[in-house]
Amino acid sequence: MRTFGKAGQPSWVKPPCLCSVAVVMVFTMGMLIAPLMRLSRKVISADDPSTQLVSWVESSNNQVVEDLPVSGEIPQVTDEVLATISDSKDVTPTIVEEEKDGEVKHVLQLPSQQGKLKKQCNIFEGKWIENHSEPLYQNETCPFLSQGQNCPGNGRSDSGYLNWKWKPTECELTRFDGLAFLELMRGKTLAFIGDSVTRNQYEALMCMLLQVASAKPTGNRKFQRWVFRGYDFKVIRIWSSWLVHVSTDSIDFAPANMTKLHLDILDEKISEFLPMFDVLVLASGHWWPKTAAYIIDGKVVGGQTWWNGTYEKKYDVLAGYGVAMKTALKAIIAYPDYKGLTILRTYSPEHYEGGEWNTGGSCTGKTKPLEESELARNSYADTLYAHQIEAVKEARRIGENATRIRVMDITRAFSYRADGHPGPYRNRNPNKVVERGRNGKPPPQDCLHWCMPGPIDTWNEYLFAMLQREFIP
Ligand SMILES: *[C@@H]1O[C@H](CO)[C@@H](O)[C@H](O)[C@H]1NC(C)=O
Ligand SMILES: *[C@@H]1O[C@H](CO)[C@@H](O)[C@H](O)[C@H]1NC(C)=O
Ligand SMILES: *[C@@H]1O[C@H](CO)[C@@H](O)[C@H](O)[C@H]1NC(C)=O
Ligand SMILES: *[C@@H]1O[C@H](CO)[C@@H](O)[C@H](O)[C@H]1NC(C)=O
Ligand SMILES: *[C@@H]1O[C@H](CO)[C@@H](O)[C@H](O)[C@H]1NC(C)=O
Repeated sequence: MRTFGKAGQPSWVKPPCLCSVAVVMVFTMGMLIAPLMRLSRKVISADDPSTQLVSWVESSNNQVVEDLPVSGEIPQVTDEVLATISDSKDVTPTIVEEEKDGEVKHVLQLPSQQGKLKKQCNIFEGKWIENHSEPLYQNETCPFLSQGQNCPGNGRSDSGYLNWKWKPTECELTRFDGLAFLELMRGKTLAFIGDSVTRNQYEALMCMLLQVASAKPTGNRKFQRWVFRGYDFKVIRIWSSWLVHVSTDSIDFAPANMTKLHLDILDEKISEFLPMFDVLVLASGHWWPKTAAYIIDGKVVGGQTWWNGTYEKKYDVLAGYGVAMKTALKAIIAYPDYKGLTILRTYSPEHYEGGEWNTGGSCTGKTKPLEESELARNSYADTLYAHQIEAVKEARRIGENATRIRVMDITRAFSYRADGHPGPYRNRNPNKVVERGRNGKPPPQDCLHWCMPGPIDTWNEYLFAMLQREFIP
């Protein structure tokens, strides 16, 4: 098997087009899936080809640690700050079935004393506890699942990683209820913007919702969009690797063809559609190790794995990331006519041991969450995380509606979940675990994205909880 493509990148940089996976699965599953959704091949395949890239492979290709601080202070985020920007009412709503015109609805009802409960619960502080309740969907029942994340379908036989639920210390995380979610989002538009990890969450949500309702694709060249008709609820996905404007023309001493990241300009792919969104979930992180020149006010101010030694470099990857996050969040919050709820999902931890993705790094054999003592500190990830929190704090200080920005703080909880990645089970090749490349190394593993079903489904339970807080009167 050819492991590396033309550009020296693994052949799985481009996962199979979602349309063909979906279409094949619809055919093979016939009656089971047909009533759930009507797929239009045309719309999905018209999606921007860049969205087909698996970001981190592309980005990690240039990963060099030259810009990482050898030591240095990692900005600390206090629990107090997190509680205010990611708080969730200490409420476990009951899901009530209502029948209207022969149709059953699931509606969330708060306990009557809710108004009196002032206590806040940080749903992101807690621990993983063993719980053998069924996953919210199966590989067989989700036509939306990319092959790269279909761990059982790719031969992963252990299933213990599915038997853990996140338990916030001071409250419960309500199990996802698709019908109640749809009811909560009736008439609204939810957008996911970011890279392939964001796509991972979007696909998981689609899998969760397609268990209870059907959706129709109504996207175009610029975004994927699914409409849940009976609810007039739309889910949109837009690809944006860095959240800021990208160009390739030469600027000053930064040559043509090199990626230029304009740290002070919001990605126009985001601004173009902002007013449409009622809820926006966004994130960025895994593309930053890629070679790029950083531009502020039209001038070259820094770069990643690239520099012209004649000048002083002001922004390395970490500083550049910090500026970009502030730019993106502040521009979004201040955007005219945008009144949506903005949710920044924090850095998604990867778990390579014994090397990087392309030098034999592995997460093979992880079958349960890590113990506290096994957690590995990663100063790069810690710093990105701290910059995200700083950017949210700063964005919340501007503008009348600035409080409508929240943090989905998954980083710590998911640092335990080394067991939740596809690892070697990123494709169907039955020999993938024993295979060795010419250099004697096994083929690259995916210890970055998350298996579906799997722990990533919890992100959508966090989302469900956050939306309840926002939209239940
Ligand atoms: C789903 O996973 C099972 C193993 O649990 C596997 O046998 C089956 O082929 C998978 N189906 C698909 C459509 O990937
Ligand atoms: C397991 O999780 C389910 C769904 O979240 C919950 O209803 C149930 O109470 C949990 N069981 C235990 C033993 O915690
Ligand atoms: C940096 O760029 C300037 C202007 O293009 C050029 O004159 C100089 O030779 C470059 N220095 C290096 C080390 O490439
Ligand atoms: C930029 O890339 C294009 C296409 O790959 C190539 O034809 C062109 O020569 C490149 N230009 C520079 C300045 O490297
Ligand atoms: C703030 O939000 C309210 C309610 O959503 C809206 O009416 C108002 O126009 C918003 N203000 C700005 C400056 O966007």
